[in-house]
Amino acid sequence: MALAAPARRRQPMTRTLLAVGLVIMLAGVLFGYDQGVISGALDGIKKDFHVSTFLLEVITSWVTLGAMVGALVAGSLADHLGRRVTILLASVLFTIGAVVEALAPGSWILVLGRLVVGFGVGVASVAAPLYAAEMAPTRLRGRFVSLYQLAITMGIFVAYLVDYVLSHSSGWRLMLGVSAVPAVLLVLAVWPLTDSPRWYVQVGRRADAEQALRKVMATDDVVEDLDAIQGTVDNEALSHAGWRTVFAPQWRRPLVIGVALAVLQQLTGINAIIYYANQIFAAAGFTSPDAQSLATLWAVGAVNVVATFVAVAWVDRFGRKPLLFIGTTGMGLSLVVVGAMFLRLSAVDPGTTTHASTTGEGLVTLVALVVFIACFAFSLGPIVWTIINEIFPSHVRGKAVAVATAANWFAAWLVAQFFLSLVSLISSTGVFWLFAFFCLVTFVFVRRFVPETKGKSLETIQSMWGDPEALASAMDEE
Ligand code: BGC
Repeated sequence: MALAAPARRRQPMTRTLLAVGLVIMLAGVLFGYDQGVISGALDGIKKDFHVSTFLLEVITSWVTLGAMVGALVAGSLADHLGRRVTILLASVLFTIGAVVEALAPGSWILVLGRLVVGFGVGVASVAAPLYAAEMAPTRLRGRFVSLYQLAITMGIFVAYLVDYVLSHSSGWRLMLGVSAVPAVLLVLAVWPLTDSPRWYVQVGRRADAEQALRKVMATDDVVEDLDAIQGTVDNEALSHAGWRTVFAPQWRRPLVIGVALAVLQQLTGINAIIYYANQIFAAAGFTSPDAQSLATLWAVGAVNVVATFVAVAWVDRFGRKPLLFIGTTGMGLSLVVVGAMFLRLSAVDPGTTTHASTTGEGLVTLVALVVFIACFAFSLGPIVWTIINEIFPSHVRGKAVAVATAANWFAAWLVAQFFLSLVSLISSTGVFWLFAFFCLVTFVFVRRFVPETKGKSLETIQSMWGDPEALASAMDEE
């Protein structure tokens, strides 16, 4: 938890904190694996079930819709059942869904499995970062939540790798079933842990809160910290705020920031690239499926992981805003370049290859996409999740994080669903330039509306929204 009086001692990295780190990593791997795996599985599914294009789209995108619903429900679940039990529930659901997918006798059972998996991912995508943000000491909070993003990118990378290895056989059942492994590990990792002290205080279980705090901090001297948490919770009119409080004018600013960042993160096109990387590389002249998969694996998958390390290392030192400014600038510029290259390349199109060999434009596109992914990975990728999990007051945090996360899933669905149609409507160049435009919008939005939250305890951030002077000074920090 972000403690009100952290200055008096340095929080050691306790065993409990390491275990929380593991939980957040496993939840992220689940999320990422699921985002990345489907592109490689579609071919085999199509062959085995002879499904229409529409059904293939449903199989691809309904996981995102399931996740959106899961994210919305997760807020209330996390408030009522606690963060820990909610994560357990998500992992169990996820495991069931993965098994259903792997054994599905027909396409509609497969869709059902996808929905259940999506629901589990959605719940975990809210509960796990929330848990980590509440367990982490202020000094480590950004890094902890960035770990989540790191794990998402690792999940995507592993999915690309599994897709590549299994692509020659009809390995789609295994591709989908493998995701049950991190889900089972997640159950094992969460089981022995306590809930967050902050949640215990919120539901009036002070003794449990004290015990949890002792474990996290590896000391018996927790009274001051417990009082700080208690003070914040007491100051809140309602400890289980209803939906109306979430949308109250008082908290409008953090809500707008959270939802806008969540949506903008997707409108800059990241998942169009993650899902359709193979097709983009095909259009850029990478002729063989092997060459496409390898470009996707390394240029998108691996670069994404490596650059996220930068964020994990720097987010608490540099601050959120500078990384966001540099990242969105790099993303925007590289998308302008990709768009320009596509003036000379053929359109992005599923399944067709129109160039005999890789052209100069194709190689420039590859490099620009590497820059785009790298810039996303050290900025908008992790920092959006960090900010979403730290800006809300504790009594609305569960629900507000859920709203922002659901908005993120909805925007991800929109992009995944309409990317290819948009390409035929306004051309590949038009779409990449549209994504670039949203990078600019994000830059301006962060500059005008987002305060710096680096080094501030959750309590300080919370009181800042009602204190114009503190807010103004946080806006100037860059
Ligand atoms: C986004 C995901 C995306 C991933 C890529 C996350 O921050 O929320 O939608 O697939 O980054 O690394």
